[in-house]
Amino acid sequence: MQIKTVRTKEELASVLLSPEEKGPDFAYWVFSGVSQGGQWENMTVLTPGTYGQEFVKTFGHYHNDPHEETYRVVSGKGILLLQKKHFEEGSWTPNKVDRFIIVSILPGDETLITQEWGHSLSNVGNEPLITLDNWTHGHTPADYEEIEELHGMAFYLVKKDGTADIEPNPNYIDHPTPEFMTAAEFAKFTKQLI
Ligand SMILES: [Fe+2]
Repeated sequence: MQIKTVRTKEELASVLLSPEEKGPDFAYWVFSGVSQGGQWENMTVLTPGTYGQEFVKTFGHYHNDPHEETYRVVSGKGILLLQKKHFEEGSWTPNKVDRFIIVSILPGDETLITQEWGHSLSNVGNEPLITLDNWTHGHTPADYEEIEELHGMAFYLVKKDGTADIEPNPNYIDHPTPEFMTAAEFAKFTKQLI
């Protein structure tokens, strides 16, 4: 197993709601080669905490590759944010998304991510959020660049009155109504997509 990514607050700043706010110096670590030939390739460990109101999260990305990705929660309490790419006359319009789904995930939950769905994980608990995933297909620069240019996904996940709430990202237009799902409901939803 190797350390693949260490993401500091500074490296996450471009996609945060309030980059000037204080928060954990290290947001998350990704380890690769986790099960060496087994089902899982990467392990992500997100620290608990917030940057201002926003929960610690992964940077967020799309997949250019058509394979599906499965995440499994090992421990902690998370929320997976997903947004569907919008196309106009065949070309991707990054600042508009067709749907926005918010999935609560707990240990043992598995979520399947299909192509054209941007995704980011947030730690909404008081302990590290640890997930495994099976992604071995790499990334293109555009998988990250568009989310970076728009300073995050279409909504930010924030802590308000002790619970998770959302804040629209003003760099996007025509925000869809966010859809809240449990991991089981999201599993039913993705079955229709594949
Ligand atoms: Fe992914």
